Amino acid sequence: MEITYTRKELNSLISILKGQGKIIGFVPTMGALHEGHLSLIGKSKELCDVTVSSVFVNPTQFNDSEDLKRYPRTPEKDAEMLEKVGCDVVFFPTVEEVYPEKDTRIFDFGHLDSVMEGAKRPGHFNGVGQVVSRLFDMVVPHKAFFGMKDFQQIAVIKEMVRQLNYPVEIVSCPIVREENGLAMSSRNHLLDPEQRKNVPHIYATLKKARNLAAEMNVTDLKQWIADTIDGNPFLKTEYVDIVDDTTLRIVKEWSDPGRKVACVAVYADKIRLIDNIVF
Ligand code: PAF
Repeated sequence: MEITYTRKELNSLISILKGQGKIIGFVPTMGALHEGHLSLIGKSKELCDVTVSSVFVNPTQFNDSEDLKRYPRTPEKDAEMLEKVGCDVVFFPTVEEVYPEKDTRIFDFGHLDSVMEGAKRPGHFNGVGQVVSRLFDMVVPHKAFFGMKDFQQIAVIKEMVRQLNYPVEIVSCPIVREENGLAMSSRNHLLDPEQRKNVPHIYATLKKARNLAAEMNVTDLKQWIADTIDGNPFLKTEYVDIVDDTTLRIVKEWSDPGRKVACVAVYADKIRLIDNIVF
């Protein structure tokens, strides 16, 4: 595996690979890697000739400086894990490498940015748009792989790709869960043992909710999800929404057209977790 730290190093590798006509798959990450990320690398290896990954904790997508400080960073372990699963190139840039000058672009993602994560974390998706577009400019991938846990992020990135006309295919990959159902997330590293025992309650509730959808209207079911999660003293829901899986319009009635996804953000003390389930 080639480890690169600068744009220059990355560019020269990418030019060689492009010259050889290789199909390039890209897995952008913020590090603290887990099985979910490794599954994205696996998918990229299946569909592409060469897999490039980046490990960069992007400051512009954090609307809370404490959250940015706390975000787990495990670069040596990340490099080992990537090597083990056969990633070909990894890019570990500094902030100055990604943002040699301040990125002042403001994206208009419309409704996609006005609900759920967009509403609760103002500026978050603008920062995601900034960093992903910069990384796409550097890696120039044919395909890029993202996990469905960040379901809204995928919708926003697809919109950015459409607006900026990038010739890249966005590949959505299923959520990878621990045996107890907890969605894998880098933030899980921050949970203490007591919280770890309790957070599987989030997905257990979403699964029960899917079965209850035939018996309750949308408003009551959302309330049921919030009450059931909050019934656990270690958890506090920030939002529960049921949305159309493509437009992210809030579902009001089960008869609304389109596939529906229930999405939640939940605090375990200061640690914020998100999860979702397709109904
Ligand atoms: O999903 C993430 O880890 C990040 O939002 C991403 C896409 C790597 C951009 O920093």
